Amino acid sequence: MGNVAVIGAQWGDEGKGKVVDWLASRAEIVVRFQGGHNAGHTLVVGNETYKLSLLPSGVVRGKLGIIGNGVVVDPEALLAEIARVEAQGLTVRPDNLRVAENAALILPLHAALDRAREAARGERKIGTTGRGIGPAYEDKVARRAIRVCDLAEPETLAEKLDELLLHHNTLLRGLGAEPFSKAALLAQLLALAPRILPYAEPVWQRLDEARRAGRRILFEGAQAVMLDVDHGTYPFVTSSNTVAASAAAGAGLGPGAIGFVLGIAKAYSTRVGAGPFPTELHDATGALLGDRGHEFGTVTGRRRRCGWFDAALVRQAVKVGGIQGLALTKLDVLDGLPELRIGVGYRIDGMLWRHLPAAPRAQAAAEPVYETMEGWSQSTRGARSWAELPAQAVKYVRRIEELTESPVTLLSTSPERDDTILVRDPFEG
Ligand code: IMP
Repeated sequence: MGNVAVIGAQWGDEGKGKVVDWLASRAEIVVRFQGGHNAGHTLVVGNETYKLSLLPSGVVRGKLGIIGNGVVVDPEALLAEIARVEAQGLTVRPDNLRVAENAALILPLHAALDRAREAARGERKIGTTGRGIGPAYEDKVARRAIRVCDLAEPETLAEKLDELLLHHNTLLRGLGAEPFSKAALLAQLLALAPRILPYAEPVWQRLDEARRAGRRILFEGAQAVMLDVDHGTYPFVTSSNTVAASAAAGAGLGPGAIGFVLGIAKAYSTRVGAGPFPTELHDATGALLGDRGHEFGTVTGRRRRCGWFDAALVRQAVKVGGIQGLALTKLDVLDGLPELRIGVGYRIDGMLWRHLPAAPRAQAAAEPVYETMEGWSQSTRGARSWAELPAQAVKYVRRIEELTESPVTLLSTSPERDDTILVRDPFEG
């Protein structure tokens, strides 16, 4: 029995919440390995809707949740999220949540810099969540980040704040934003320390033991492959590696621990924020997909851009993300459309491409090459077997499998957990 990693195969918001929740109910440990509270996972359990952004989904199912070292942790946001889910009846305590002692912290100055920089970019803004994710990862790589373990050492905090503020206040002043005071930040961190430290530990040890004992681990990805800092539509990406390979480094395990990699893809495409989106629809069909699919960001509340399924892009995500099976979600949103299109490649300056090239001008110029398929008039909503699906819907899914070079191992047909067609159990490998 192996472990499973779940990652988004498009630009995020693929409906990971439902799939992760189902898998979490069958795992013993759920680990976040990258990103921060920019993620937004909606879990519907009975009458209760949980909106998680930093907490691993397993906490909703009473499992051990681990925030790995690859995550950037905003301590205020973490405590606020814990308070929010506790108000909904859950219990989050150090016995069911552990946080890597070597994870980097997000401080208020990171969010301030994120927003000031976005404002300065004007038309060329990335459309970040404004939560300080990018600046926090920059500090980590620049070796000046304050980490969870530093909260236990007041002298270390004071020294690190000097270095951090020299850098950030210079930038903030240059961008016309308010600088931060060392005394206020230090006081804030010292006040947070006793509330955060009980969760901190070398999580790699616990994970190593769990792995050797054969306990099932679910690695819960955030964002998606096309937002990966290396493999995505750079610079319109997030600041971490979202591919499954980063689950190992972001949790403190070897690559062999990851197990089966499940990619989540919507039966169409959406994107929040700016950046290339070759199959985007600016017409009534795009608006229809947005309305029917309730396409509003969980974290930002912003309306998502909508378009046709881009098989060339998902195929690329399958390759670089190490995806072994796809979970296809929201097929029912396409019900009743007379004709469907699937992007199979791009035309750029008269040349045909099977993948999206890395150069930004080429990406922006990419015109989709489509294959057209007949739609279906019947409802697919709530289907629980292939036999319940219209023949055209099955044909659409089969074509996606061929074009993306990945089997569809799970098909989700409504937000309800049981409305799922399972082809292969990811935990069985
Ligand atoms: P950041 O992660 O806040 O720096 O934002 C960078 C880009 O990633 C922006 O386009 C965001 O909209 C996008 N992004 C970040 N987190 C998510 C997510 O959970 N779902 C979808 N898009 C996201």
